[in-house]
Amino acid sequence: MSVVKFYKEEHQVPLEMHKVRVVQKLFLPSVEERVEKLRQAGNNTFLLQNKDVFMDMLTDSGVNAMSDNQIAASMQADDSYAGSETFNRLSRVIEQVFGTKFFLPAHQGRACENILAETFVKEGDVVPMNFHFTTTKAHITRKGGRVEELIIAEGLDPNLDLPFKGNFDIARLRALIEEVGPEHVPFVRIEAGTNLIGGQPLSMQNMLEVAAVCKEYGVMSVLDASLLQDNLYFIKTREAAAKDMTIAEIIRKISDEMDLIYFSSRKLGFARGGAIVSNNEELILKMKAFIPLYEGFLTYGGMEVRAMEAMAVGLLETLDEEIINQGPIFIEYLVKELSEYGVPMVKPAGGLGAHINASEFLPNIPHEQYPAGALATALYIAGGIRGMERGSLSEQRNPDGSENYAELELVRLACPRRVFTLSQVKYCADRVKWLFDNRHLIGGLKWVEEPAVLRFFFGKLQPLSDWQEQLAAKFREDFGDSL
Ligand code: F0G
Repeated sequence: MSVVKFYKEEHQVPLEMHKVRVVQKLFLPSVEERVEKLRQAGNNTFLLQNKDVFMDMLTDSGVNAMSDNQIAASMQADDSYAGSETFNRLSRVIEQVFGTKFFLPAHQGRACENILAETFVKEGDVVPMNFHFTTTKAHITRKGGRVEELIIAEGLDPNLDLPFKGNFDIARLRALIEEVGPEHVPFVRIEAGTNLIGGQPLSMQNMLEVAAVCKEYGVMSVLDASLLQDNLYFIKTREAAAKDMTIAEIIRKISDEMDLIYFSSRKLGFARGGAIVSNNEELILKMKAFIPLYEGFLTYGGMEVRAMEAMAVGLLETLDEEIINQGPIFIEYLVKELSEYGVPMVKPAGGLGAHINASEFLPNIPHEQYPAGALATALYIAGGIRGMERGSLSEQRNPDGSENYAELELVRLACPRRVFTLSQVKYCADRVKWLFDNRHLIGGLKWVEEPAVLRFFFGKLQPLSDWQEQLAAKFREDFGDSL
């Protein structure tokens, strides 16, 4: 993978391998306004209005910058309900990238998960995975299934700097299948890379080992490839066996061993939409009828044809190392800046975004006061930066109503690709550093409105004291009349 070296080592920064030709004006409300906007949003960053956000680091889902070729392709879409040429084009690209003959379209990743759960998960089933994702788990439990997380123990230690912390513990996978019986395991889900534990990748070898175990027990292997783009970069740069392989070869090596692959194209392919792909026609036929039922006709599946064209180009662009390295190198820069200052970050830098370890940032705030949620609100006050709580708020309560505290309390600063310049990334680092120096001012949160399902999306909270006003006052003291 090519790295552009700077003449002076101290000048070395991540270098954009693209130029920006369409821009959107940003606004930064004053710190007093930010406290008020947060109150109106129920202290939930999902409920902030984007117009009040300076740096939107909530997610990389559907907000990556598209390339000129993606935009151009989307102008040539064949808009028809059935038999669209756009579908045929996208099918050919999917076959080229994954080597899979069959493709079911869906409107986004969770729609694929719904169809998978609907088709394969029965009451009492167990679905092993390296780590759960919020929507995946919700669909599986809705069908009466149970999720078992089999991540290697090191994966849950945010301070361990290991290359593939998203790996499965293969021995535990075997033991679990033996214990519950393969007939109660509808599929094993491989999330590459892992969302909720800091975008940590899996090695190619580990994915192939999981697929081999699945074959041995006659259990279906399912790859969630939503975050595959960054994972490919990490395989290429961190795994010796892949050093001389092209990205295209790495994808094929993995996909050839999977029974089924699905992904959110809001992430993979920098577009919108979702896809379920496989070489196994029997599996596809089992799911097929659900596409027109839940999504849309088989040649669009709820997607806009323009997005399908952009997805086709985006998937091909994923094969280009200089395109897929842009996320990871910016994330690495942000993680390094903050770690060197002492801010507890999930290490090593993973995909998707930089992740702050809120438990260590705010050691005095216990799980029941939602440290990661509190830190996300503080960050909006500090800089108009919208991150996402990835901790206990993002969990579901246990069936008896008790809290299911997250293993890691993280605030995710997603880095939508090609959206922020390096000076904006530096601004973000600056405001996090200020917040770290003033962390003693940050207090906890409590629920005022708690929805039963996926509560983090639209639930509302309140600070436990007037700590947010005090934080804003300190900001004024330190920054004068600056926004
Ligand atoms: N799988 C993974 C690993 C994901 O990260 C996501 C979405 C999905 C499935 C669901 O896809 O959003 O298209 O329905 N992650 C988004 C995020 C929501 O912000 O991390 P979707």
